[in-house]
Amino acid sequence: MKAVIPAAGQGTRLYPQTHTKPKPMVRVAGKPILGHILDGLVESPIDEAVVVVGVMKDHVIDYARENYGDRLDLSFAEQNQTEGLGHCIYQTRDLVSDDPICIVLGDMLFDGDYGDFLVEHERLGDVDGSIGVKVVEEPSNYGVVTVEGNRIVELVEKPEQPASNLAISGIYFIEDTSGLFDALTYLIENDVRGAGDEYQLTDALQRMIEQGAEFGMFEVEDWYDCGRPSTLLEANRVLLERTAEPTETPTDTSVVIPPVDIGEDVEILRSVVGPYVSIDDGARIEDSRVENGIIGGDSDLSAVNLSETIVGNNSSVVGTPTHLNVGDSSEVHL
Ligand code: G1P
Repeated sequence: MKAVIPAAGQGTRLYPQTHTKPKPMVRVAGKPILGHILDGLVESPIDEAVVVVGVMKDHVIDYARENYGDRLDLSFAEQNQTEGLGHCIYQTRDLVSDDPICIVLGDMLFDGDYGDFLVEHERLGDVDGSIGVKVVEEPSNYGVVTVEGNRIVELVEKPEQPASNLAISGIYFIEDTSGLFDALTYLIENDVRGAGDEYQLTDALQRMIEQGAEFGMFEVEDWYDCGRPSTLLEANRVLLERTAEPTETPTDTSVVIPPVDIGEDVEILRSVVGPYVSIDDGARIEDSRVENGIIGGDSDLSAVNLSETIVGNNSSVVGTPTHLNVGDSSEVHL
């Protein structure tokens, strides 16, 4: 089985981070989102991955080859216009041919490795495919499935009036890949666009079901949505809690409160950092207080008090050192 990882989208919900790097390269808990996904594959029996690249493709290709080229059999397909997830998967048809695939969307990280999901999929028996689903509060932000037992009877992408609260979570197993590529070809050749005026994977799967394909479902437990700034910070918190190694305080003038992930050549001076901070290589933090944040590489923070904050690479955030003589019973918010 091959994994197919769409990594070509513009990632507009993560602007401004994705102005200068593709979404899979946005860093969370010490490494790019794509690194977490590829780590999950390395741990699983799936050792081949087709990554679909587009915007700023070289970042993605170089990172994947350099860090995972010796552990995964990697290949790359290109999507040159952003025409939707269905169109993105369609670009892999020559590389996939009729091999079974596991589609792993770049927005979602899960607890557990993909091998656990593969076991769930195999338990469903003789199906044409299966989809990981999760109960959510706002299903209209997602693809939504209607199920009977553990079989999917209908899928609708971002419905205004969802028929259920079961969302497509971003992991799919497809056994009948020829059927999937036929359905995608039909949508594209007949210009059948769905939600967002794009060619949707959900619509192709719905077409397969209408033509008699059988799809099962399995529930996924914890997921971390890396697709929006607020949920990205939440993903950072949870993943740091799970994965961060104990960190030594880098200088004796600072306090580091775990969990944090500190990259290489990071300087922390007269500061309190943590909990839940991921700092990329080469950053410098002085006279500051930082908690709950993602700080990009080679960035400079000076005299600031930050929380719930994402700072991209090579940025500079400078506050004004303040000298106060505050009397009793005062309240000062700076
Ligand atoms: C995509 C899928 C949607 C799924 C979601 C999960 O939407 O089209 O069915 O529920 O991922 O993250 P997107 O987030 O790309 O809008």
